[in-house]
Amino acid sequence: MTPTGTAFYVTTPIYYVNDAPHIGHAYTTVAADTICRWHRQRGERVWFLTGTDEHGEKVLRTAQAAGVSPQAWADRLVAEHWKPVLATLDIANDDFIRTTERRHEVRVQRFLTQLKDAGHIYSGDYEGPYCVGCEEFKLPGDLVAGTGEHAGLQLCPVHSRPVETVAETNWFFRLSAFAEPLLAHYEAHPTAVAPHSAHNEVVAFIRSGLQDLSISRSSFDWGIPVPWDPSQVVYVWFDALLNYATAVGLGDSPELPGGSKFAGTWPADIHLVGKDILRFHAVIWPAMLMAAGLPLPGQVFAHGWLLVGGEKMSKSKLTGISPDQVIDHFGVDAFRYYFLRAIQFGQDGSFSWEDMTARYTAELANGLGNLASRATAMVGKYCGGVLPAPGAYANADLALADELLAAVQDADAGYQRLDFVEGIGAVKRFIDAVNLYVTEQEPWALAKRGDDPVARERLATVLYTTCEALRAIAVLHNAVMPRAMGRMWSAIGAQEGLGPIGEQRLADVSAWGQLPPGVTVTKGAALFPRLPEEAPAGA
Ligand code: ME8
Ligand code: MG
Repeated sequence: MTPTGTAFYVTTPIYYVNDAPHIGHAYTTVAADTICRWHRQRGERVWFLTGTDEHGEKVLRTAQAAGVSPQAWADRLVAEHWKPVLATLDIANDDFIRTTERRHEVRVQRFLTQLKDAGHIYSGDYEGPYCVGCEEFKLPGDLVAGTGEHAGLQLCPVHSRPVETVAETNWFFRLSAFAEPLLAHYEAHPTAVAPHSAHNEVVAFIRSGLQDLSISRSSFDWGIPVPWDPSQVVYVWFDALLNYATAVGLGDSPELPGGSKFAGTWPADIHLVGKDILRFHAVIWPAMLMAAGLPLPGQVFAHGWLLVGGEKMSKSKLTGISPDQVIDHFGVDAFRYYFLRAIQFGQDGSFSWEDMTARYTAELANGLGNLASRATAMVGKYCGGVLPAPGAYANADLALADELLAAVQDADAGYQRLDFVEGIGAVKRFIDAVNLYVTEQEPWALAKRGDDPVARERLATVLYTTCEALRAIAVLHNAVMPRAMGRMWSAIGAQEGLGPIGEQRLADVSAWGQLPPGVTVTKGAALFPRLPEEAPAGA
């Protein structure tokens, strides 16, 4: 729980509906979901928002090219792709906001009016370069000179496409007035932008001076009308950033459900974004909130890019790999695990089928999967599928319980600072320790001396210890691999003995001896089956 007593509130960007999701979008959403699941198991009240960004020229032009209205286009993309991908990825979001929803539009308009009344908005002329791909007004210094077919033109460095010149009379937000307050805020809260490289980038950008921002457009009408000037629509980023607050009731009076929701939820604790949209979130958004006198989010965390051939995977460059393509091959749990485990969160990472295959085989199939299948098979074979009661513990058993204690502490510390490599790695080290324990204790050799009561008791202790370790592993890995860990939980009889896995608390996970002897242990299908021989076509 945050110091203010509001919910632990996590958001993803709201994604453009110009195309279907690729694994870059899935990466952000899975990371956010994993954080939320971890905090739920810490016993916190969590609120997790994701959604879609549907206005603006980019979506409008895509719809026009497809010969349908932008609303029809957005409806189709949301229904056929953006909502289904959440189920594919096992995402447990609490809400899904679309910027074309009425609840969003009325709150955006009210917010805008409030800012205008407070003197933060004025009318002016804008002329300058605009990238529709970024939906961003560019500074001349941002652009790169085109070559080849684009010789003589100025290109957006992100999209490698010519920028367009916008010349309109627009409404402006006095962003420049917030440079000093923003710098003061980031000095007082150095982790409000993370990782530290992102903090440095944002501070340097603000120090270089902020220009006022054009926040409306008049040359097209796919957007929220400016309430006092319906010839203009709200600039898509001004509209989109507000989703984080409109979705939880921004501006509603305290007696209304929206008002009490807002009081119990805002500010957001973590806005998770890719580094491509850091400045919008760490400069424009907090300035908007300051202008309205609202509390600022706890943290904007900018993660790195998934790269293909050394470049950012993107829809516009047709390098997007769909989540389904990867999940059909590896399964959803491995998908969620791999990207968080293999890439230091905050840095770029290259996706390759080879690397994912290697890690799947080593860590999931041979590591955790093999441990679970060995343990459950042996309880089946030697104990008739009934979890035996342990006898007296030996040093090796007690050492494992100590390692668990360390794993829980390290994993929690890792997850708290969004260091998934460490959060997941701490649990993996424990899994390795348990695998080593089983190898060294040789329960199969103890079982061969079945007439010897000492061996029989030792066998019971070793099998109990192994299953009890799996009980803890299931809880610790439930945030990242909920489906597989739910299955493992049932296989070791924990569902029967302890109730739902989601109700297990991380604070209690290292207390040894929770799994009740006598529960039914079953060896189900492999958690991480052998991979199909062939990688998918085009891989
Ligand atoms: O920018 N690697 O939407 P968008 C990692 N609508 N993450 C990636 C990625 C990649 N190659 N490609 C995309 C927008 N992402 C706006 C946001 S928020 C108020 C409005 C992820 O559809 C990453 O989170 O272009 C990135 O910031 C986001 O998708 C951009 O999604
Ligand atoms: Mg983008």
